[in-house]
Amino acid sequence: MVIKAAEFIKTKIQGDYEIGIICGSGLGGLCDAVENPIYVNYADIPNFPVSTAPGHIGRFVFGTLAGKKVVCMQGRVHYYEGYTPESVIIPVRVMKKLGVTKLIVTNAAGGINESFEVGDIMLITDHINFTGINPLVGKNDDRFGVRFPDMSYAYSPEMRETALKCAEKMKLDLREGVYIGCSGPSYETPAEIRAFRTLGADAVGMSTVMEVIAANHCKMEVLGFSLVANKAAGMSKNRLTEQEVIDIGKEKANVMQKLVCAVVGEMQ
Ligand code: HPA
Repeated sequence: MVIKAAEFIKTKIQGDYEIGIICGSGLGGLCDAVENPIYVNYADIPNFPVSTAPGHIGRFVFGTLAGKKVVCMQGRVHYYEGYTPESVIIPVRVMKKLGVTKLIVTNAAGGINESFEVGDIMLITDHINFTGINPLVGKNDDRFGVRFPDMSYAYSPEMRETALKCAEKMKLDLREGVYIGCSGPSYETPAEIRAFRTLGADAVGMSTVMEVIAANHCKMEVLGFSLVANKAAGMSKNRLTEQEVIDIGKEKANVMQKLVCAVVGEMQ
């Protein structure tokens, strides 16, 4: 599956791409900053899962960002769309086959930490996989990694250091915290959010954890950012809607874009 998809994409591009970027809900604007773009639609790639979520276009963008060769995913697939966990991680494995060794993941999330404001950007220091499933369940694919991959440094300390330095230069008050990944598609209940806070989570979302597990399995270094799109359930009087998630993405996408560009520019 993965090999066939990667072979198809290789006919459209030249050479390896070491830096991969997965753009989350409403954050695909970053791809517009990619210079000399080559687009490859997911729908044209054999065996490739196509995103149906709002705010996701569904294509790879290959090109240059901050002077570095990058491959961006404008849109991703989620477990809640009905894809198997194995399908959700196909894009990460395809990127591995295209040469990616460093992966930047972005997402929109609900803020659990009471000191977070809507519009804040959180550097993900670690995650809690609360989806109830691990994408590596099943026969291990030894071509990608070992049976029991280590997750002690799931989010690269070196890349996090770089991100903090870039944020400081930009005078951006970058938050830091733990992302808890749930299956969705229903938002959480207020009781779940209180429980997650007790567990040590700072932000909650419906993506990222499976991709990051797959990326660690195949020995990529990972950096992750969450855009706090709303206060998590029960923390404000408002009901949660996907529209506010998309709207805040549009409003703050620029800041996230600048930060990711700066980090890419600093990468070796
Ligand atoms: N919960 C889960 N996923 C989300 C949220 C949330 O509050 N906001 C954006 N994605």
